[in-house]
Amino acid sequence: MQVITIVQTKGGSGKTTSAMLIASAALDAGRRVTLFDGDVNAQLGRWRDSFELAAWDAVKKPAWPEALTILSPPETVDDLLVLLEGEERRGVDMVVIDTRPGTHTDTEDFCLLSDLVLIPARPVFAEWEMTHRAVLWMDDLRASIAEGERFPAVRVLVMDAGAKIIDAATREGGMSLLPKRDQDVLMEILQLDHLDVIVPHSKILEQLGFHGPLGPAAAANARTPGGRLMAEAITRQIEVGRLLLAGIDEAVSV
Ligand SMILES: Nc1ncnc2c1ncn2[C@@H]1O[C@H](COP(=O)(O)OP(=O)(O)OP(=O)(O)O)[C@@H](O)[C@H]1O
Ligand SMILES: [Mg+2]
Repeated sequence: MQVITIVQTKGGSGKTTSAMLIASAALDAGRRVTLFDGDVNAQLGRWRDSFELAAWDAVKKPAWPEALTILSPPETVDDLLVLLEGEERRGVDMVVIDTRPGTHTDTEDFCLLSDLVLIPARPVFAEWEMTHRAVLWMDDLRASIAEGERFPAVRVLVMDAGAKIIDAATREGGMSLLPKRDQDVLMEILQLDHLDVIVPHSKILEQLGFHGPLGPAAAANARTPGGRLMAEAITRQIEVGRLLLAGIDEAVSV
């Protein structure tokens, strides 16, 4: 069972969206997933409610996938460990813990019992400082534990990137089209340990509360006359999630 904690010192950086995207891709790959909402504002905890309440009009809304559970973390680390053991016993393959922004000790506890810590980062100048701070925070945490003790892999995830950024990162000569400040930030981020995937800015990802887990949403749209384009748009984001999963598998196995 893989345990992933998503952290950032800055709010609104795409933590919850990352958790939902990873969960969607993992479910689509046939894995059983449990999400923990470690944020006080419980945005992730309400994912199922917002999906159930969303008015899908012409498209028949699918059932919430039985293989996806969302829980609140218990009060103590010991209780969480017991809960995680239980999840593993009942066949859960992947656990994702979403956290609140900031360098809190409860978030550090989540990190220490994880296989991977993900730091979502928008590749923009205004947010770079906070990404850097999050990486340093994890360095400090690593330095604070006893030698030989297990520490998770830590990876930055480039999140919510506009088309220009994606061009710059992936296309020969694309970098020169970016303003210098954005070039510098992108280069800085790509020099950190990062997953080899860029999550694009996407309306589908912005509306994950509405769509729910993406696999069932794509299938439901594909079954509806006139829903094919939406199904394709959703499927493209599942593809991004699939790359993300591949990166996670690689990071965790090292
Ligand atoms: N790839 C993306 N495409 C479009 N919108 C995105 C993307 N990633 C994040 N967003 C939007 O940015 C906002 C913040 O994202 P999100 O809620 O995932 O961040 P967060 O780090 O969990 O925030 P908080 O610190 O408040 O918990 C949301 O409105 C979300 O829909
Ligand atoms: Mg959040």
